[in-house]
Amino acid sequence: MEAAPIITFDNVGVSFGEERIYDRLSFNVRRGEFVCILGPSGCGKSTSLRMIGGLLDVGSGRVTVDGRDPHEAWPEIAFVFQSPRLVPWRTALDNVMLGTELRFGSGDRERRRSRATDLLHLVGLAADARKYPSMLSGGERQRVAIARALAVDPKIVLMDEPFSALDPNMRGRMRGEMERIWLETGKTVVFVTHDIDEALQLADRTVVLSNKPTRVLEIIELKTPRPRTPGDPALDTQRQKLAKLFRSLEQPAMQQENAP
Ligand SMILES: Nc1ncnc2c1ncn2[C@@H]1O[C@H](COP(=O)(O)OP(=O)(O)OP(=O)(O)O)[C@@H](O)[C@H]1O
Ligand SMILES: [Mg+2]
Repeated sequence: MEAAPIITFDNVGVSFGEERIYDRLSFNVRRGEFVCILGPSGCGKSTSLRMIGGLLDVGSGRVTVDGRDPHEAWPEIAFVFQSPRLVPWRTALDNVMLGTELRFGSGDRERRRSRATDLLHLVGLAADARKYPSMLSGGERQRVAIARALAVDPKIVLMDEPFSALDPNMRGRMRGEMERIWLETGKTVVFVTHDIDEALQLADRTVVLSNKPTRVLEIIELKTPRPRTPGDPALDTQRQKLAKLFRSLEQPAMQQENAP
C-alpha cells in the first residue's frame, strides 16, 4: 500500500509583481519518499521549496505539510542549500550543534554534542569533527550541512541543488552517500536538481516541471532497487525519457536566445 502524502501541493499559484510563475501546480510527496524536482532554470523550484518550508506565502491554492499549514509545520522541516553556509569560526562538530542550538536553545549540551557526533559519523566525517570549514573539501562541507539539517530530527529535508557546486567526481560520490543516508534515516526528502543522473540514482519519483507558466509535465516513477549504480541499464528507459523531456524544454529558451 502507498504511504499517505506528507506534502501536498493543490492547485498552487504564485506571482512576483506582474510575473506569474505558476497558477495551478499540483503534486504530492509521500511519507518517507525521495522525490526529485527537475525543471528548467527559473521555473519555480526554489520557490516551491520556500513555500513548503513556510518561508514564502502561498499565493493561491493550498500547500499542506504533515496535515498542517506550512507556517505551523516548519519545525518538521530542515533545509540544505547549494552552498553549505557554515560558520567559519566553528568546528564541524560545533556547526552541527548550531542547528539544534538555534532551534532548541543552548541547554542539554552533552546530549546535543553526542547527537552531533553520531551524525558526523553517519555522514562519514567522524574523524573530522574538530576541523574548521576552511580545512574541509567542498563535499565534506556539504556533508556537515546535511548533518546539521538532520540534527533537529526533521521529518522532511528540503534540498536545493545541494551538490551542483561540487566537481563531477565529488558530485557522484555525494549521490551515493545521500542514497545511503536516506536509506539509514528514512526521512522524507524533496531534492531539487538540474541533473538527470542525480534524479535517476536518488528518486522514488521525479516531478518534471515545464517552462513558465510552470506546470507538471510528467511524474516519473523509479522502482529500480537500491543501492543503485550510476549508469545502471535498468534505468535506461527512464534516462531516455527524461533526456527527451529536457531537450524539449531547452528548445524554446535556445530559440529566444538565438533570435535576432
Ligand atoms: N523575491 C522575488 N522577487 C521577484 N521575482 C522572484 C523572486 N523570487 C523568485 N523570483 C522569480 O521567480 C522565478 C522562479 O524562481 P526560482 O528561484 O524558484 O527558480 P528555480 O526554478 O529555482 O531556478 P534555478 O534552477 O535557476 O535555481 C524566477 O523567474 C525568478 O526570477
Ligand atoms: Mg533554484
